[in-house]
Amino acid sequence: HEYHEGVKQLCDRGLAKVPRKYILPASERPFISIKDGATNLKLPVIDLAQMQGPDRIHTLKSLSKACEEYGFFQLINHGIASESVLNMIQAARKFFELPFEERSKYMSKDQSAPVRYGTSFNQNKDSVFCWRDFLKLSCHPLSDVLPSWPSSPAELRQAVVNYSKETKSLYLILVKAILESLGLVETAKNIDENDSCDHLKEFEDGSQLIVANCYPSCPEPDLTLGMPPHSDYGFLTLLLPDEEVKGLQIQHEGKWVTVEPIPNSFVVNVGDHLEIFSNGRYRSVLHRVLVNPFKSRISIASLHSLPFNSMIRPSPKLINDANPGRYMDTDFASFIEYMASHEHKNKSFLESRR
Ligand code: SIN
Ligand code: FE2
Repeated sequence: HEYHEGVKQLCDRGLAKVPRKYILPASERPFISIKDGATNLKLPVIDLAQMQGPDRIHTLKSLSKACEEYGFFQLINHGIASESVLNMIQAARKFFELPFEERSKYMSKDQSAPVRYGTSFNQNKDSVFCWRDFLKLSCHPLSDVLPSWPSSPAELRQAVVNYSKETKSLYLILVKAILESLGLVETAKNIDENDSCDHLKEFEDGSQLIVANCYPSCPEPDLTLGMPPHSDYGFLTLLLPDEEVKGLQIQHEGKWVTVEPIPNSFVVNVGDHLEIFSNGRYRSVLHRVLVNPFKSRISIASLHSLPFNSMIRPSPKLINDANPGRYMDTDFASFIEYMASHEHKNKSFLESRR
C-alpha cells in the first residue's frame, strides 16, 4: 500500500515503544515535565454575548488585544447548541473506531479531495511522522461535497452538516467583529447594520474545512508530537480541543505553554491569511500538540479561508506611508501548492511572503 496506515492502526495492534519514524531529533522534542502546571496558560476570554450587547466596543478592544498579543482566544457564550457540538465529536470518535478497512477507503493523495483520511502532517514530505490521524472534510459548497463524505458511521453526515453550518455562521459573526476591530467598518449601533460591508460577501463564499484529529495514547510521549509547530494557513480557525485531555501548546513570549481549555467554549486562532490581511497587526501564532501517555485525544478544527480564487494581501485601508505593506500579494492556490510541496517547517510559507 502506498499510504501509511497511521497511528491508530499501529497502536491497535499493540505497541511498547515509539517506532523510529516518529522519533524527533533531540532539539525538536517537547520537554514534558511531570508538574507541567507551571507552563499552563489561560487564553484571553471573549464573551460573544457581551460582544453583541451594549459592551461591544469594550469587547472588540479585548478581541484586538488578544489577536495582537496571543493570536488566540477562548470564545464563550458562542451560541452553538451543545447538542451539535457533542454530535460532531461523537461522530468523529465513531469514525476513528471503525475497522481500518473502512477508514482506509477515504485515504487520498489528492490535497483537494473533498474527503481525506490520513496521518501525520503531510506524509509525502514529513521526514519525521507525527502522532496523529485525521479526517478532513471540505464543506463548501455543501451540496457538491456531501455525497463524498463517509457514509459510516450513519450519523456522521448529518452531524457535520449541522456543525459546519453553525460554525460558519459563528465565523461570519467573528469576521464582522474583526473587521470592526481593525477599523475597517464602522461599529454598528445594531448588529445587522453593517451587513452590506464589501468584504463580507467574499467571506461568505470562503472555503471551510472540518478536520477531526485523533491522537492515540503514546508509550513515549516525550519523543514525538501530535502536531509539529505550525501556523494555520486560513483566516480563522475555530477549534474544539478535547475537554478532558490537554495537549495544545502555543508559543507565547518565547515559550511553549499548554492551553487550558474552558468547557463549552471554542479556542479561536488567527491564521496566516488574517495576519497578512491585517498587515501583521494580528498574529498567526505557532502551535503544536503534545501526546498523552495514557489517554487518546480527539479535537475538531473548523478552518475558514477566503475563496480559493481570492488574492491574499493586506487590506489597502491598513496601508499608508507610516505603515507600508509588509507582505507580497499572493493567492490561495499558491498557499496550497506550497504546503503540498514542502516539508512543514514552522511559519515558512508566511515568511516567504514577506
Ligand atoms: C491544530 O493545530 O489544528 C489542532 C490542535 C489540537 O488538536 O488541539
Ligand atoms: Fe493548527
